[in-house]
Amino acid sequence: MLVGFAVWVNSGVEFSEFDAAWAIIGPMRRVVLLIPSATYRATDFVTAATALDLDLIVASDRRSALHAVMGERAQVVPLDRPQQAADQLVALHERLPFDAVLGVDDQGVLAAGEVAERLGLPHAPTAAVAATRNKHALRERLSAAGMTQPSFALTSDDQGVAEAVEAIGAPCVLKPLDLSASRGVIRADSAREALAAARRIRDLTGSPDILVESYVDGIEVAVEALISAGTTNTLAIFDKPDPLEGPYFEETIYVTPSRLPSGVQRRITDELVRSVDALELNEGPVHAEFRMNGGEIVTLELAARSIGGLCSRALRFGAGVSLEELILRHALGLGVDDRRLDHCASGVMMIPIPTRGTLVHVGDVERARAVDGIEGVEITIPAGQPVVPLPEGDRYLGFIFASGEAPGDVEAALRRAHALLDINIDGSQ
Ligand SMILES: Nc1ncnc2c1ncn2[C@@H]1O[C@H](COP(=O)(O)OP(=O)(O)O)[C@@H](O)[C@H]1O
Ligand SMILES: [Mg+2]
Repeated sequence: MLVGFAVWVNSGVEFSEFDAAWAIIGPMRRVVLLIPSATYRATDFVTAATALDLDLIVASDRRSALHAVMGERAQVVPLDRPQQAADQLVALHERLPFDAVLGVDDQGVLAAGEVAERLGLPHAPTAAVAATRNKHALRERLSAAGMTQPSFALTSDDQGVAEAVEAIGAPCVLKPLDLSASRGVIRADSAREALAAARRIRDLTGSPDILVESYVDGIEVAVEALISAGTTNTLAIFDKPDPLEGPYFEETIYVTPSRLPSGVQRRITDELVRSVDALELNEGPVHAEFRMNGGEIVTLELAARSIGGLCSRALRFGAGVSLEELILRHALGLGVDDRRLDHCASGVMMIPIPTRGTLVHVGDVERARAVDGIEGVEITIPAGQPVVPLPEGDRYLGFIFASGEAPGDVEAALRRAHALLDINIDGSQ
């Protein structure tokens, strides 16, 4: 339907026929997706755009196979220079007007905000989005709003790191300002460990800047939400049942609904709203992480995007609607009728890379897929490729998806399937 209609409209058929179709299905909406080449999310967003019959323009930082077939509807833009990317897309809007622009992952959100701002399309303030892209700016904003935060200090050399550890105390966590997926995030239990961690982070980023924070003990949850005209609607609270105590913070299992008492879940939702308000975010998807520290709920992170990796596949809303469809509908002002999750419980495991080397193969994938409750196993790194664990690595080995009656069943199925996988990495070089 989408392709047929798009070809038909674009081929300049007789006006009366066009008019008739327009009357039945309304004008075709056009949307720009800013898709970083490093994202996992291109397929799911493009699939959602297709399901919604949208005319799609894809803007990415690199040429891809899409460019050969999409012509002007595939643009190469410098996502790391949002102003320049916006110049190009605003000029494109003159020739191919679009109704919405969306950054699908961290690297796309600033340019998307800039384009939306210049064209008067609905969007969160660019300064708010920028604060979510810098971990120091985020801490400053949240603490200025009076929210409980770890102690923190921005450092730019070894002396600064030593002074920060002295002031904050150990254990502490060191992190780069603008990476994601726990890359470069390292716990240090002493000044000596902190200096070693700082060197490792600088080697990774090439930047002297490192944020040092006090270590916040406690269990962690992730929250997925969608802000509509200033109202934050929580879509899912995920428990992270594996302990995240460092020294590296590899994410593994996410399960929803949360097994925390409903009162705690309400407080998490309230804390999310306070964080969103503190940043003055007022539109679009957010992904946040919190730790329960004694009686307090501490916002660790707030990102102006939806969940990363392929994790959104663990979520289905209403009658099988994907998170990406929900986000696109929201961006186009189409209304979002049903935000309720449509299974009893679901979850995902990001398959960690256990050791550095070359991936030889991942065996027994079919056995893992056959485990009761498993919905899918996707190995996302091809055999023969180098694999790098955290804190330097930037990819997962793959993803396992499960659903079930209760969160405990989902977690057990994910663990069972993962244990069956035969992960073979040659670490000899
Ligand atoms: N101050 C902290 N105390 C305890 N754990 C932390 C702290 N900061 C980060 N972490 C752990 O490291 C993970 C990644 O840190 P985060 O700031 O969210 O960076 P990223 O953007 O890479 O996800 C968190 O999910 C949490 O498990
Ligand atoms: Mg995080």
